[in-house]
Amino acid sequence: MNITVIGTGYVGLVSGVCFSELGNNVICVDNNVEKVNMLTDGHVPIYEPGLKDIMNANMKAGRLSFTTNIQDAISRSDIIIIAVGTPSLPNGEANLSFIELVAREIGSYMDNYKIIMTKSTVPVGTNDRIQEWISSLTNHPFDMASVPEFLREGTAVQDTLYPDRIVIGTHSERAVATLKELHQPLTDQIIVTDIRSAEMIKYASNAFLATKISFINEISNICEKVGADVSRVAEGMGYDRRIGASFLKAGIGYGGSCFPKDTQALIQIAGNVDYDFKLLKSVVEVNKDQRFNVIRKLEDALGSLEGKEIAIWGLAFKPDTDDVRDAPAIEIIQRLLEQGAVIRAYDPIATENFRKEVDSPSITWEERAMKAAEGADALCVLTEWKEFMEVNLTDLAAHMNQPILIDGRNIYGEDQIKDTSFQYYSVGRPGLTNIDGRKTAVI
Ligand code: UGA
Repeated sequence: MNITVIGTGYVGLVSGVCFSELGNNVICVDNNVEKVNMLTDGHVPIYEPGLKDIMNANMKAGRLSFTTNIQDAISRSDIIIIAVGTPSLPNGEANLSFIELVAREIGSYMDNYKIIMTKSTVPVGTNDRIQEWISSLTNHPFDMASVPEFLREGTAVQDTLYPDRIVIGTHSERAVATLKELHQPLTDQIIVTDIRSAEMIKYASNAFLATKISFINEISNICEKVGADVSRVAEGMGYDRRIGASFLKAGIGYGGSCFPKDTQALIQIAGNVDYDFKLLKSVVEVNKDQRFNVIRKLEDALGSLEGKEIAIWGLAFKPDTDDVRDAPAIEIIQRLLEQGAVIRAYDPIATENFRKEVDSPSITWEERAMKAAEGADALCVLTEWKEFMEVNLTDLAAHMNQPILIDGRNIYGEDQIKDTSFQYYSVGRPGLTNIDGRKTAVI
């Protein structure tokens, strides 16, 4: 099939590359000339495992190209995928200005029947508005479809090529047939719905996953007080197939470009129809506070943080990405700076992006994890990068001024800690006894 993807952010780029991998002819359009040149030269502007190789292979095979010429791309395609951003407005609502702009361009350049498929996360009812914006500028027939995206950063290629399900929301039989054929090589699990339900499935899915995370984080806070171990609790819950084991990892809360934005947007969508989404508001509240447990634990161990050297391992909102949007590390580091701490930060790949969000003469950006920990009064693990799991903890403790470890992601187990001198704080797990016979703490 001949496909145009408009927008080369995470969703657009990964979808375009993966559809070309399935043998389709794909043109990716972006209005950012620099980005298009970069992609045409075979460089990927985001860090996403596996993406670059598949992209270059498909460009070489002549199935994938990049352009700023939207008119030409539209005229050469039967399916137009809208994958531009929907950032949050100050009130939490999704900003649809990019969507409207693209819809109007599509309307201006339509020259025969096409399927317009929206992959951007948009509030319920937006596809109807897109239909109106396009119709106001063309008499050519077209069909709308909402096909929400469920890929995760860091595993985007895998998630796209092996999805759990595909949701196709459309009112057109013709579009159902074509889009089923397009997605059939990926999965048999194709759910066809009306457009509004498809739009809602995306928000409800992200809101539910965010709810699972805030739920387990609250359970972890209670576990700390009653002496239970949240990782065993999650394991025991997860075997129940009605609950499921995934997204029950307690930590410092969710971040990224999706959950924070989409939960706020759904609260707003509900508010617009006079519905107070109390549960989701609490999920957001819990998430906002959870990250500051790291500071509370530091204070428990060190007292005042004024002048203390705090090492930070991990700045990205999760591992295998250089994305720092809404990363819990941002507010944690800002709060530490406010309290007079001196920061030594390290992340395998996200430092450059992070420095655009927070920078200060009180932060040293280190290029090695061990270097960041050297002479520190405490170390906080904020992202569960694999390399942090592989360090020799005895060696690490010896490098530090005080062996205090705040493990915000529960990456170390009792076996690893018990033979060290660390005063170790994790999330929702009972205190362990370390080599000095001292009970490590959770508060
Ligand atoms: C999320 C969804 O998982 C995707 O299905 C969706 O397509 C995407 O948003 C989107 O709307 O575009 P993503 O934000 O890339 O994907 O990352 P996740 O793996 O879902 O993690 C989000 C946050 O939750 C991270 O900060 C992670 O550390 C945190 N998390 C996740 C936990 O704290 N505990 C868990 O058990 C799982």
